[in-house]
Amino acid sequence: MNSKSDKPRLQEPPASTYLSPPGQLPLLSWYRPTYAEKDRHLAPQNGKEVEVVFRDLVPYIPSTTYGTFGLYRYPAKFIPQVVAYVIEHYGLRGQTILDPFAGCGTSGLTARLFGLNYELWDLNPLLGILHEIAIMKPIHLDIDEVVNEMINSSQEWFPEWQNLDYWFPAALLPFLGKLWGYYHHLETNEKKKLLTVPLLKLTRNFSYNDAQRQKLSRSPKAIQRVENLLLSNWREQALTMLKSEIRSVITKQVEYQNLMLDQGELRAKIRAGVDTLQAAYEIGESGDAEWDFLITSPPYLQAQEYIRASKIDLFWMGYTESSIRALSKKELPYHEVEAVPIHSPTFEVYRSMLTEPKILQVYERYFYSVLGALTVLSEHVREYLFLFVGPASLRSVAIPIDRIFAEHFEALGWHHEVTFVDKIVARVLFRSQKNPATGLDDMRMKTEHLVVLRRDHCKEG
Ligand SMILES: C[S@@+](CC[C@H](N)C(=O)[O-])C[C@H]1O[C@@H](n2cnc3c(N)ncnc32)[C@H](O)[C@@H]1O
Repeated sequence: MNSKSDKPRLQEPPASTYLSPPGQLPLLSWYRPTYAEKDRHLAPQNGKEVEVVFRDLVPYIPSTTYGTFGLYRYPAKFIPQVVAYVIEHYGLRGQTILDPFAGCGTSGLTARLFGLNYELWDLNPLLGILHEIAIMKPIHLDIDEVVNEMINSSQEWFPEWQNLDYWFPAALLPFLGKLWGYYHHLETNEKKKLLTVPLLKLTRNFSYNDAQRQKLSRSPKAIQRVENLLLSNWREQALTMLKSEIRSVITKQVEYQNLMLDQGELRAKIRAGVDTLQAAYEIGESGDAEWDFLITSPPYLQAQEYIRASKIDLFWMGYTESSIRALSKKELPYHEVEAVPIHSPTFEVYRSMLTEPKILQVYERYFYSVLGALTVLSEHVREYLFLFVGPASLRSVAIPIDRIFAEHFEALGWHHEVTFVDKIVARVLFRSQKNPATGLDDMRMKTEHLVVLRRDHCKEG
């Protein structure tokens, strides 16, 4: 691949842009190191494991939730530092990346900072709106005036959700209905986008959902919290929260925009609400897509249930019970899939250790669906695959997913350059000590692994 040399490299911005506009946060982009073409690819480690702490390697993104990276609490999301590290060391401005399990879109937001084109796919329809809000240029808004309009709105709107009363106290519903009535009667514009996350957060805060748990679930503690809220001046608290959340989104948008190296043109394609398995096979047949690299953090081996975790939000955004149910059915790795060849001795070894039919089924479905989709997509990737996975366990058997992925792609002609091993500090998964699916001690996610695979014909710089 020698066509890269004429592409612009990441460069420091001119000195004048180091200064922040008055009243704004400091521009951080000048911290960004530049890489000469010859340094672009890290020295290959021939499949060795290399310990890293990604968040320390990318100092110009000050925290994992900085800017709009922290817009929404999406389960098991990437820390932006992982994607930034990859792009810095392996990417070039103008290249195109694909994340086929993009969640709330972290990889795209990071690619945008560096001027890379990107394509994001996810089953969760929230990806579409969250991405739009995250990249939006901040607008001026009289927050007091808007909140006033909201509470004086004559519109009402409620989700099509049979269980609404189970999740919200009756006393609060008219209030929420009014706020959402205002929202849903607004034409789609920047103001409406800006109100989305604050309204979702407020609504969750007034529900019986237990925020400590990833999945939608009611708990006595959560019920008690809401009952206590109702005894206080909840209306005033709600409005204060709404205003502060709107302000917070604007601040995050400013922070994100200030991280941007430049505001040049790039292409971004978002496919929200799409089943990646199906979409991959469709592309496989039509053969018309090409990406420079693929970076993704696929769904987890154990029950994560992203759609279920987003249910409250999806309902209030206007999705119906039947559409949410249809999405849930497509979530990996739960639905039935055809067996595909998995070219990994380690896959076979672990398969033979799992004797319980149900567990074996989870194991097989996971690899058939996730590796099935990634294999088809990899045929359209020119340079690199970056697969971010954690060691997971089934019935206390730790499954080395990263090794299985690496062996599989090596057998298909990819070169396994290195696996970066990152210790997790803040990545939010289940907080419980027991795995809720099995009742056993939760052995999950002590470290996370970034498997780097290079297409064989693509030489190091
Ligand atoms: C580990 S999360 C990705 C998080 C992402 N890296 C981020 O930063 O937000 C895995 C994603 O796979 C998605 N997923 C599960 N089944 C899917 C399917 N059949 N098609 C597309 N996406 C799917 C989930 O909705 C979830 O967002």
